[in-house]
Amino acid sequence: MSTNAGKVAIVTGASRGIGAAIARRLGRDGFNVVINYAGGIAEAETLAEAIEKAGGRAVTAKADVSDAGAVARMFDAAEAAYGGVDVLVNNAGIMKLATLAESDDALFDSQVAVNLKGTFNTLREAARRLRDGGRIVNFSTSVVGLRLETYGVYSATKAAVEVMTAIMSKELRGRSITVNAVAPGPTATALFLDGKSPELIERMSKMNPLERLGTPEDIAAAVSFLVGPDGGWINGQVLRANGGMV
Ligand SMILES: NC(=O)c1ccc[n+]([C@@H]2O[C@H](COP(=O)([O-])OP(=O)(O)OC[C@H]3O[C@@H](n4cnc5c(N)ncnc54)[C@H](OP(=O)(O)O)[C@@H]3O)[C@@H](O)[C@H]2O)c1
Repeated sequence: MSTNAGKVAIVTGASRGIGAAIARRLGRDGFNVVINYAGGIAEAETLAEAIEKAGGRAVTAKADVSDAGAVARMFDAAEAAYGGVDVLVNNAGIMKLATLAESDDALFDSQVAVNLKGTFNTLREAARRLRDGGRIVNFSTSVVGLRLETYGVYSATKAAVEVMTAIMSKELRGRSITVNAVAPGPTATALFLDGKSPELIERMSKMNPLERLGTPEDIAAAVSFLVGPDGGWINGQVLRANGGMV
């Protein structure tokens, strides 16, 4: 991948948060972007318009990533719009925090469905359909390293994603496709901020030596590197993007 121009990138969960920043960044980097969303149609459409207005190309594709059929149709839509797919960014995810004692079946099942099965669904489709020379970036979390209380089920789904990342990078031998994961630390999005007190947010923002929360754009910059011309030698790795927290 010597240049991004004309390459096609699917970004899952791109209606808001980190995914929206990744879609904007990859649009600027020259990719034709597919903005996947589950419920946020208005936000996704507004983002596509903004990317096009800035000189990029973008379409939207609704798909609940936990639904294998919907994921296949999303790839169909990307191929119909742009002729193929080169990059998959598996950003879609949900987080529900509770101690293991307090976790109910719904908390477990929903996070496994979106974070783990959702990533599996898109990886399987990508393994079959990505053009040679492509790139895949999965999403983990720095809590896999930090191991904080109440993050047990969430972190377990992401640890599984890290293992699939390394194994898939080997399974794609001979196709010049890299597979990596980005593992953000606390980043200023609804997923992190909702339900936390200002004091807790302040405390968690100081856990890294740069003493601030990550921004969606910080994480998008790491993804831009991994999927761009300079990231080609990085394969099968987990890049913790967290200001040095762990
Ligand atoms: N923020 C953090 O501190 C942090 C730290 C470590 C890791 N991460 C990881 O980074 C990724 C992005 O997180 P974020 O903070 O940007 O979250 P967010 O602000 O809550 O946004 C989540 C995005 O995922 C989409 N989504 C949720 N369920 C989906 C599904 N079933 N199918 C398709 N899309 C779905 C949402 O789309 P709709 O609104 O359209 O439903 C939304 O666009 C996640 O994988 C998360 O685990 C975040």
